[in-house]
Amino acid sequence: MSHADDHEGTRRDFLYYATAGAGAVAAGAAVWPLVNQMNPSADVTALSSIRVDVGGVDVGTQITVKWLGKPVFIRRRTEGEIEAGRAVPMSDLIDSNARNGNIDASADASDQNRALSEDGAWLVMMGVCTHLGCVPLGNASGDFGGWFCPCHGSHYDTSGRIRKGPAPRNLEVPPFAFESDTKIKIG
Ligand code: FES
Repeated sequence: MSHADDHEGTRRDFLYYATAGAGAVAAGAAVWPLVNQMNPSADVTALSSIRVDVGGVDVGTQITVKWLGKPVFIRRRTEGEIEAGRAVPMSDLIDSNARNGNIDASADASDQNRALSEDGAWLVMMGVCTHLGCVPLGNASGDFGGWFCPCHGSHYDTSGRIRKGPAPRNLEVPPFAFESDTKIKIG
C-alpha cells in the first residue's frame, strides 16, 4: 500500500468513526416526540392507564416508567427539594403555568400545583424535555438541583420547572392519582 493509500484509508476510518460516534450520541439522547404533540386526547387516556407501585421508592430517588410509549418520572422528593421548590418566587419562573393536567389549565406553577400530593413528597412528570423532546437527566442534576437536559442545556428545578436554557415550558404533569399510599394510577 502506498503512503497516499494509507493516508486515504486513515481518513476514511476517521470519517467512519466520526459518523458512527454522532449516531451513537443521537441514539443515546433518546429523542421523543415534541411535548405538544404527545399530550394524548382524553378518549385515548381513558383507555390507557397504568398502575405503579411506588412503595419501594426511597426518599431522594426516582423511577422512570413508560406510559403511552413515553417516559414518566416519579420522584420521591427530599425535604430540601420540597423547600427549594416552594421558596422560588413566581417572578423567577420562565413558565409560570403549572402544566398540570390534573388541575385548571390556568393554574400557576407554584410547587404545590406541580406536586399535588398533600405533603409535596411526590412529583410525577413526563420525562420529556419541552425543547426538542430529549429525556432529561435526573438525580438532582443541573444548576437548580432538579433535572438537566444535556441536548441543548436546559435546567429544570426541583419542581420540574424550566429555569434556564432553551426549553420553553415546565415538564408536563400527566393525569395521575394516588389509589393508595403506595399506588399511583397514571392516565
Ligand atoms: S431537547 Fe432538551 S434542551 Fe434541547
